[in-house]
Amino acid sequence: MKPKVCVVGSANIDQVSYVKRTPNDGETVFGDSYQMGFGGKGANQAVMAGILGAEVYVITCLGSDVYRDMTIENFKNNDVITDYIQTVDGSSGVAPIWVDESGQNRIIVIPGANDLIDGSLAIEALEKIGKPDVLVGQFEIPMNVNEQVFSYAYKNGVETVLNPAPANKPSDILLQNTSWFIPNEIEFEEIYGDIFNENNLLLFAKNVDTNVVVTLGEKGCAYIKNNSVKIIKADSVKAIDTTGAGDAFVGAFSFALASKLDIEECLKLALKKATDSVTKKGTQSSYKN
Ligand code: RIB
Repeated sequence: MKPKVCVVGSANIDQVSYVKRTPNDGETVFGDSYQMGFGGKGANQAVMAGILGAEVYVITCLGSDVYRDMTIENFKNNDVITDYIQTVDGSSGVAPIWVDESGQNRIIVIPGANDLIDGSLAIEALEKIGKPDVLVGQFEIPMNVNEQVFSYAYKNGVETVLNPAPANKPSDILLQNTSWFIPNEIEFEEIYGDIFNENNLLLFAKNVDTNVVVTLGEKGCAYIKNNSVKIIKADSVKAIDTTGAGDAFVGAFSFALASKLDIEECLKLALKKATDSVTKKGTQSSYKN
C-alpha cells in the first residue's frame, strides 16, 4: 500500500526572473531569463510527495482564472489527487521571484485565493479522504484554517508536520496539535526571538511538545536525539536556484515519515531531495530527476 499524505496549503504561479544581481532601490537592471512555473509551498510539498510515490491529496484554494485549470492539470501530472481543491471568484495566488547569480531567491507572495480557503470544507475533505499517515501544513493560508485541520487530524491519530513558512509565530493550539515542527534557520530565529544555535534549539524544544527539525540550507539540518542536537550534513553542490528547496525537504520528509522510515532515514531522504533541487532551475520543475 502506498503511504498516504494529505497537504493543506497554498498553490501559486511562480514568475521567476534570473538576474546577475537584484536591483537596489530606484535602480533598473537587465535580467538574464524568465520562466513561469507551478509553485506555492503547499503545492510544492504535495508534488514532491507525489513524485516519490505517495497517495497524496492536496486541499488548496484556486481562483476563477486561467491558472486554475493549469494548476489542476499540473497536480494530476504529478500524481496528486485533486478532488478536494476549492475554487473562489478572483485570482489564484501568484509569486514574483528573483533569483540571483548565487542561486539565492527573494520571493513576494500575493495570496489571492489562498487567503479564502474554507476551513469547514477542508474538514469535510479530510472526513472523505479517511485517515492519512501524515498531514502537512504551512503558513501561506490563514492560521485559523491550519488550526482547524491540525486539531482534527491530530485528535484522529494522524502525524502532523508544520512548516512555519513564511515565518510567523504558530498559535498555541496549532503547536499543541503538531507532531513535527520544521522551520528553516531564519524562521526559527523569527519565531524563537533569538539566533539559531544548538543551545537555543534545545531551549526552544524543551518548551514545546512537538519534535523540532531546523533546516540549515547548504549546512544540512539539525534535530534533537537523546536530548542533544544532531546535525546531518548536506552534500555540497553548486546552487543554481534555491527556490522551493525547503518545500522539497518537507514534502520528501512527509513521504518518508508516512512510509514509516526511521527518523534519520527520513531526514537523509529529505536532504537529498532538497539538495538535488537547488542544482536545477525553477521550483517544482527542479524536483524531477
Ligand atoms: O517556497 C517556495 C515557494 O514560496 C514558491 O513556490 C512561491 O510560490 C512561494 O510560495
